[in-house]
Amino acid sequence: ILHKIESEIQKYPSPRAAVKSALRYAQEEAGWITEDIINGVAQILEMKPIEVYEVASFYDMFYTKPVGRHPIRVCTNVSCLLRGSKKIMSSLCKHLDVGVGETTSDDRFTLLEAECLGACGGAPMMIVDNDYHENLTPENIALILELYS
Ligand code: FES
Repeated sequence: ILHKIESEIQKYPSPRAAVKSALRYAQEEAGWITEDIINGVAQILEMKPIEVYEVASFYDMFYTKPVGRHPIRVCTNVSCLLRGSKKIMSSLCKHLDVGVGETTSDDRFTLLEAECLGACGGAPMMIVDNDYHENLTPENIALILELYS
């Protein structure tokens, strides 16, 4: 991934502007943002590790703790909330037998809450891995989850 980060750096006037891209590439590789990744990215981009950590912990698309093979991010922001995201979240908790922020015992899914994911027109919605699933109902979520092993 080093060459990807280096080519990203070339696009910006300052290396630190590539921090989100660097974290994204690293997370694609490792699954989550470890302390080693924070330190490595900081070194490459000439930043302090705490500055990199601040970015990683600010955006909910970055996982600063281990996650299952398929992270599920359920939008609970206004449009989704008004269209039933609470019901979706409780159906997912029941179906997966986990609470919000927890990982299933087979390490398959981690259930997370997210801020608006930019698909309000399809509310309520969730992202599994990088796939958007919209117009969720307590009935269709089981079928969607079957797509991920
Ligand atoms: Fe849920 Fe925007 S409020 S996608």
